[in-house]
Amino acid sequence: MKIAVLPGDGIGPEIVAQAVRVLQALDEPFELEYAEVGGAGYAAHGHPLPPATLQLAKDADAILFGAVGDFRYDNLARPLRPEQAILGLRQHLELFANLRPAILYSQLAGASTLKPDVVSGLNLLIVRELTGDIYFGQPRGIRNAPDGPFAGEREGFDTMRYAETEVRRIARIAFQSAMKRGKRLTSVDKANVLETSQFWREIVSAVHQDYPDVKLDHLYVDNAAMQLVRAPKDFDVIVTGNMFGDILSDAAAMLTGSIGMLPSASLDASNKGLYEPSHGSAPDIAGKGIANPLATILSAAMLLRYSFNKSAQADRIERAVGTVLEKGIRTVDIHEPGLRQVGTREMGDAVIAAL
Ligand code: IPM
Ligand code: MG
Repeated sequence: MKIAVLPGDGIGPEIVAQAVRVLQALDEPFELEYAEVGGAGYAAHGHPLPPATLQLAKDADAILFGAVGDFRYDNLARPLRPEQAILGLRQHLELFANLRPAILYSQLAGASTLKPDVVSGLNLLIVRELTGDIYFGQPRGIRNAPDGPFAGEREGFDTMRYAETEVRRIARIAFQSAMKRGKRLTSVDKANVLETSQFWREIVSAVHQDYPDVKLDHLYVDNAAMQLVRAPKDFDVIVTGNMFGDILSDAAAMLTGSIGMLPSASLDASNKGLYEPSHGSAPDIAGKGIANPLATILSAAMLLRYSFNKSAQADRIERAVGTVLEKGIRTVDIHEPGLRQVGTREMGDAVIAAL
């Protein structure tokens, strides 16, 4: 069970350290190997995804990832920016299936900006396609427009495209996830405007034939955004493309009050995966020891469940997190008056004690 540990930038190293302590407390024979990634990769080796880091990730059975991004690297040319590390890992390792659960722990119902009755009990899963769409579609670039009403002017362009295999394989993951949950799947697209989406809808509907027990419906992305804040508990599993999934998953994350609680998994066809918190590197609070490590700790639980088939150990971690919240132990992002506020490391201690 070889795990590549890529802490990255900002709060990445602090939160990953706590997830690693939790993994080590399980007394399993994990082999951990560390490498720099993101701004840290650029600082050490001149590239956000140094070749040695990519190789380590390829050789590992799973990857525990912190976060990338820092003000210091905001002015680099785009190929050298920290974000390229995560995009490169997704692409090179073919991590096409991104699972982003949005679960509201009952103990945190007061932390959401939505009314408690709208969100309490929320438990939805976004299945986002991660290696296609306008994120990776060619051609793309900045050029002089060859045609159209602004011919000759400079223009920027990207290409939204999805091949049938790409839609089929993410649809399968989504239907299979729905089968293990509430058997309801909502496919999100923009089929009233985009050919890519019309095609997406056609293929998702075709794959549905293999999963007749799942109730499938389709929503346009604008309506889906509205329904997510109007009645988020109506959703079970949402499947969507890379771009729409990026946007909807941030909205869904915030329904739960703190993005500091949400783990994610990005899987390839054989369940090798990269596991990372849904939040970013928060460089403004880096090094202060106050960041919430729970999203990363819960990502480690997903790692055990999906890549190592150790559901019992994953359950233990998730229960331990529940116990800690039950005890009123909170990092600052989820703190409420009267509860005990702790730092990053103490939160790790509390989870380990609860294990
Ligand atoms: C995410 C992030 C990334 C994305 C960025 C950092 C490239 O927003 O994982 O959602 O857009 O996919
Ligand atoms: Mg995003």
